[in-house]
Amino acid sequence: MNDRASAVRRRLLPVILPAALGGCAFDLPHSTAVGRSDFARAILDVYGIIVWASLGIFLVVAVVLTWVLARYRARPGAPAPAQTRGHTLLEVAWTIAPALVLLVIAVPTIQVTFRTQGAAAPPGALEVVVRAWQWWWEFRYPELGVVTANELHLPAGRPVVLRLEGPDVIHSFWIPQLGGKRDVVPGRVNRITLTPDAPGEYPGQCAEFCGASHANMRMKVVVQTPEDFERWVAAQRAAPPEPEGPAAEGRALYGRLACVGCHTVRGVSAGVLGPDLTHVGSRSTIGAGVLPNTPENLTAWLLDPAAVKPGVKMPALGLSEDEARALAAYLLSLK
Ligand code: CUA
Repeated sequence: MNDRASAVRRRLLPVILPAALGGCAFDLPHSTAVGRSDFARAILDVYGIIVWASLGIFLVVAVVLTWVLARYRARPGAPAPAQTRGHTLLEVAWTIAPALVLLVIAVPTIQVTFRTQGAAAPPGALEVVVRAWQWWWEFRYPELGVVTANELHLPAGRPVVLRLEGPDVIHSFWIPQLGGKRDVVPGRVNRITLTPDAPGEYPGQCAEFCGASHANMRMKVVVQTPEDFERWVAAQRAAPPEPEGPAAEGRALYGRLACVGCHTVRGVSAGVLGPDLTHVGSRSTIGAGVLPNTPENLTAWLLDPAAVKPGVKMPALGLSEDEARALAAYLLSLK
């Protein structure tokens, strides 16, 4: 029996060990153990306090417990120990001690919560309105006149105030390396104030179950140098180029189909139910991070969105393969 158990253990080791060690990697895209913004680091600091406090309490308990077990263990022939009932000092002590521990955790937690969700924006802060929809993210830059979806561009080193607004159900905004989670609640505005450290791409994910495609409600924060960010803003503000060839065909189709009822392409349509597509060709993914933004994927998406993303609000438009390809060519031309 023992031989068999150890054989099983030996066989499982190559599976279990990497899996266990994999959980120890710090610098992964969805790791909360690295802070790439002041907000994420503030949360990490609070975690640090909790971890060290827990470790200290564990050590005290383990030492006292070991001593008690050794000192008062049953000995053959020993009389029953003296029985006690009630001990005021002890009872007061074990009420006050946890209250102190909770206080040590609560004070920095509340400080960080208030510091990062204040209504007063730091001077020079960039405001972005974040609207969470089933199942995609809308990002509006009111001062810049830019609207985009699923890919939030931010300049490094500049404070940003994210105004979280919920048009449908409760979602939760979470970029593990930059901070969160903070709920996006219909009928109220929540805020996050943070300053991203350095250029890079930081994946995020809705963190509140919100329906069939909750797991497909991804996003990406692209932190850029201030110069690159300015360039991105200028490109987003510019009118998209006139489509040519199959893309021109696609644009005619776009105008005839139901697309215009839900989507905005500045100068062409003004729908508000789906993502703004004015510069959809400049985004790296479609369907809120579900697929890379390539002609093949976009064509497949247009032919049958629900096959790519269960529950998606966008209907299949009954397009032919050629129509879908032309439409995809048009959308990808919107750089
Ligand atoms: Cu939105 Cu989960």
